[in-house]
Amino acid sequence: MHRRPRRNRQSAAIRGMAQEIHLTVDHLVQPIFLVEGEGIKEEISSLPGTFRFSTDEALKEVESCMQLGLKSFILFPKIAQEHKDKRATYSYDPENFYLKAATAIKDQFPEACLISDVAMDPYSIDGHDGVVYDGKILNDETLHILQKMAVAQAKAGFDVLGPSDMMDGRVEAIRTVLDEEGFTDTSIMSYTAKYASAFYGPFRDALDSAPVEGADIPKDKKTYQMNPANRREALIEGELDTLEGADFLMVKPALNYMDVILTMKQHFELPIAAYHVSGECAMLIAACQNGWLDYDTAMPETLLSLYRAGADVIITYFAKDYAKMQAGI
Ligand code: PBG
Repeated sequence: MHRRPRRNRQSAAIRGMAQEIHLTVDHLVQPIFLVEGEGIKEEISSLPGTFRFSTDEALKEVESCMQLGLKSFILFPKIAQEHKDKRATYSYDPENFYLKAATAIKDQFPEACLISDVAMDPYSIDGHDGVVYDGKILNDETLHILQKMAVAQAKAGFDVLGPSDMMDGRVEAIRTVLDEEGFTDTSIMSYTAKYASAFYGPFRDALDSAPVEGADIPKDKKTYQMNPANRREALIEGELDTLEGADFLMVKPALNYMDVILTMKQHFELPIAAYHVSGECAMLIAACQNGWLDYDTAMPETLLSLYRAGADVIITYFAKDYAKMQAGI
């Protein structure tokens, strides 16, 4: 035999030379759930190891991540029921604790990268990402709200805005208003191919943001989030987001959509982000808690696989644990 592929696997040194990719913490983003109040750090029962933090506790969390070299964070707010309405007006209220929290984190850690969530659902009494009227989600009316939310977030100091709503035309609407207001350096990470997935459950528990039951309220998000059966349709969304001015294109969820990640990587020059969503992380945690999988090997293999599939940026609830492992802690 002239060809013996095993020769390149025979020692750690040779395997090291032959290793095609290395995943560093530079590519990881840690999600942080924020809640109004003080001294709060409460675990999300459907996502063990992930917490809701009040701003003071979030500052400590960010500090410990920064010490591990993890510098990028995506922030999500849990909004009290009394602040919710049909049009998500609290989302751009200067008194919104989420905006203030971002400013506080940015003041203390100017070198951190803060990514926002531009979407109505945490603020909507209907639990939808758009204005609900007569049983429908109104696209263009929603854009005006997203524009106000985006400007408020840029003012608060977010580096990157993350529209996660899937309304048509939202990247252009947001880019236009940001530029008009002088926020030409504020980036947009668009949730380009966001699927109507069953794997967002723990996230909706964390934020209490699931679609609300009601006669005139759609019970799912299928009229705006993408059909899990479709891959080529992601290219339509990718082309539009590129033309509309997105800086990053995201695929979400990640693990079940690795073919979409690869397709996007092959078709577009912009960096590709993958959101390893709450349900995907929860499955792995549950298997490890049952002793069916080994966290210390299964978790890094999962993140490496997403990177290998073509994700330049990986948003994952495991980012901090991965950073700890890399640091040998
Ligand atoms: C909503 C939003 C969702 C997630 C991020 N932004 C949920 C949804 O679309 O219903 C899910 C993230 C996760 O599951 O980790 N704007």
